[in-house]
Amino acid sequence: MKINPFTLSFGMEPHQYISRYSQTSEITESFTSDNPPTMVYMISGVRGSGKTVMLSNITETFSSMKEWIVINVTPDSDILSSIAAKLYSRDDLNKLFVSAKLDISALGIGVSIENSHKIFDIETALEQMLERIAKKGKKVLIAIDEITNNEYVKVFVSIYQILIRQKLPVFLLMTGLYDNIYNLQNEKTLTFLYRAPKIMLEPLSLNSIARSYKDILNVDSETASRMSKLTKGYAFAYQVMGFLYWKNITSKNGKPDVDSLLSEYDDLLENYVYEKIWTELSPKEKDIIAVLSKNEITKVEDIRNELSLTSGNMSVYRDRLNKKGLIDTSRFGYLSLKLPRFGEVIELWID
Ligand SMILES: Nc1ncnc2c1ncn2[C@@H]1O[C@H](COP(=O)(O)OP(=O)(O)OP(=O)(O)O)[C@@H](O)[C@H]1O
Ligand SMILES: [Mg+2]
Repeated sequence: MKINPFTLSFGMEPHQYISRYSQTSEITESFTSDNPPTMVYMISGVRGSGKTVMLSNITETFSSMKEWIVINVTPDSDILSSIAAKLYSRDDLNKLFVSAKLDISALGIGVSIENSHKIFDIETALEQMLERIAKKGKKVLIAIDEITNNEYVKVFVSIYQILIRQKLPVFLLMTGLYDNIYNLQNEKTLTFLYRAPKIMLEPLSLNSIARSYKDILNVDSETASRMSKLTKGYAFAYQVMGFLYWKNITSKNGKPDVDSLLSEYDDLLENYVYEKIWTELSPKEKDIIAVLSKNEITKVEDIRNELSLTSGNMSVYRDRLNKKGLIDTSRFGYLSLKLPRFGEVIELWID
């Protein structure tokens, strides 16, 4: 049997990739412009919306450009040292640092160089390395997936601010859940992140999804469009739907009926993401989602009445749920759930 072309794995570039051209090119175009309008972007979106995949996609693009140096770091270790070590160990840069007699062996990186000026602090080390890199006409892109506001990230971002103030060519791309980005930018010393542009991952194009199902699964247009709508453009759901359809094609019965896939569809969405999303909500947020789960679309006024919320409170929750990527606010005065089958899945958890 052939391997399923769809995947349930997170954090890896899928075989079936739906382009996010406009959001991706916004980032690549500003970073590569002669006069970059910003050197930082933050990608945010609900779990399973495709943050990691988009980050890998962009870093691959930059890696293939010869003037760019891409450094991937994790937020759970000393980020500054990790960047310095990664820059130092690159063949193309190592020679540059050694010939400039940049000796950072005191920081545990590289080897000691004779007749050199030893550098003892990481900030100076990075500064000097970046100056050498800048002189060579190169630029550095630092990519961090899934940021939180831990000590490592806080220290890194505050030093990063200083580096860009010195006009060093160092760009930063981070992904994170809304809560984490929000907490980080509210740190007193990191307020510059407030102004850093945020890209909120939007649903994938329903037309592209339908086209992909048609091509890969050989389904008719009507079925493809039905399946596409059932994903609401949510990246993980696109994979799950395709995965289940493929898995249920049998030589005996032929193609499955889409309705027969729904219970397994709900189970996978629940186990992989919805359960986690639900437990991370505050009690009031859960109440609002519960009201929304009863209808396709709900009047804001009706939610307020049912939960006795003031309009001030309501707009705070509305804003937060919107930024978390859980609700659709596009129709004025109305709200609806953004994730596919979320209402059906959470039904059992509501008192
Ligand atoms: N552009 C895309 N086209 C098709 N599938 C995608 C796309 N982006 C992501 N996916 C799929 O969606 C799922 C989630 O992707 P990813 O791991 O990038 O999400 P995430 O936002 O990083 O989630 P988390 O917050 O849990 O880290 C994966 O199965 C991935 O294959
Ligand atoms: Mg991720």
